[in-house]
Amino acid sequence: MIVAPKIRGFICTTAHPTGCAKHVANQIAVVKNRGPITNAPKKVLVIGASTGYGLASRIATAFGGGAATIGVFFERGAEGERTATAGWYNTAAFEREAAAAGLYARSFNGDAFSDELKKTVVEAVKQDLGQVDCVVYSLASPRRQHPRSGEVFKSVLKPIGQTYSNKNLNTSNGQVNEVTIESANDEEIAHTIAVMGGEDWEMWMDALQEAGALAPGVRTLAYSYIGPSLTWPIYKNGTIGRAKEDLERAQRDIEAKLAPLGGKAWVSVNKALVTQASSAIPVVPLYISILYKAMKAAGNHEECAEQMDRLFRERLNSSTPAIDDAGRIRLDDWEMADDLQNLIADRWAKVTTENLGELADFAGYQESFHRLFGFGLAGVDYGAEVDVQVPIPSIKA
Ligand code: NAI
Repeated sequence: MIVAPKIRGFICTTAHPTGCAKHVANQIAVVKNRGPITNAPKKVLVIGASTGYGLASRIATAFGGGAATIGVFFERGAEGERTATAGWYNTAAFEREAAAAGLYARSFNGDAFSDELKKTVVEAVKQDLGQVDCVVYSLASPRRQHPRSGEVFKSVLKPIGQTYSNKNLNTSNGQVNEVTIESANDEEIAHTIAVMGGEDWEMWMDALQEAGALAPGVRTLAYSYIGPSLTWPIYKNGTIGRAKEDLERAQRDIEAKLAPLGGKAWVSVNKALVTQASSAIPVVPLYISILYKAMKAAGNHEECAEQMDRLFRERLNSSTPAIDDAGRIRLDDWEMADDLQNLIADRWAKVTTENLGELADFAGYQESFHRLFGFGLAGVDYGAEVDVQVPIPSIKA
């Protein structure tokens, strides 16, 4: 069939198999073009491995460091005329490329929050790799069913203690309008921490450690965001920020438990980028559009592949990577540079629907968004018939 994008607000309900494969190939090329990564982990478990930062982490460690990778994610295969999700096609392509390069890769599709999937994955680690020397935790989810209590938590993106109004970009039509978001209540804060905080990361690390599946000197990472003060009410000081504080609490607790193995845990603060998760956050798409314009002009714009390549190539090549006062790795250093942020603040104050094209890179935002689903990639014939049934080699039908 011929696959076209069907965009509904901030989601696209179709994905293009060839386009997703090209998107993955392009990210692999970014890493390979920079040469081998030294001191990279060799056996890596990535939780949230099918899109965004998790996929890029898998690509950087596999194609930069030659790592064997196990990936965990929650995606959907094609059913009849309905395409698979982008993360499904991305993983199918990743595994084909890994096999061609002689790299071990195995994937698990299911609910990472469940005890069942953890058990299955830990067994696979033991059986196939013995132990892992790196665990990347890169989940972004709107809900979590607690594995012990069965309670279902739903995360919200809201400010805390105040109603927040700011400029917002309607990414469907390029209109700059204003959005007002009511303050979260205590239950919503607690739910967001339960979904996006650190408890599940800890549960993964406990399950792996108890099974003896962590190698001496193991390294584990989870990802966070801080951003500029203009987004703080909705991000850093909002419900998601509380969850990220809990991620930092988990980082300290995990590192304490890893002491007998000489292991290390880090939270890496990454750059704001267009991903399926970030496009759902109010205010952030307008900020990202202005950011992209400024960073592309400055010549230091990065996408997920470049960010994760820099993480493993330049930061984790040392056993003591540079950290900030709170112990975090800062890959948002170029985004947060003072001169760049001053420019963005100035443009933020001025931006309207009329001058959006001049002050912001809305076209670039849209291109990035389309690419997430395999659309708009150079060299792909979108007029050609394509088989939407694409297997992930390591997942039995
Ligand atoms: P994404 O939406 O591209 O990826 C989320 C991943 O989680 C996918 O692989 C998805 O399949 C998986 N997943 C979701 N629910 C699952 C479940 N129940 N079981 C198994 N897998 C599940 O998101 P993105 O943006 O790459 O986010 C990853 C992390 O990076 C998050 O912690 C996010 O806060 C953080 N981050 C994102 C930034 C951004 O601008 N996109 C900036 C800095 C940090």
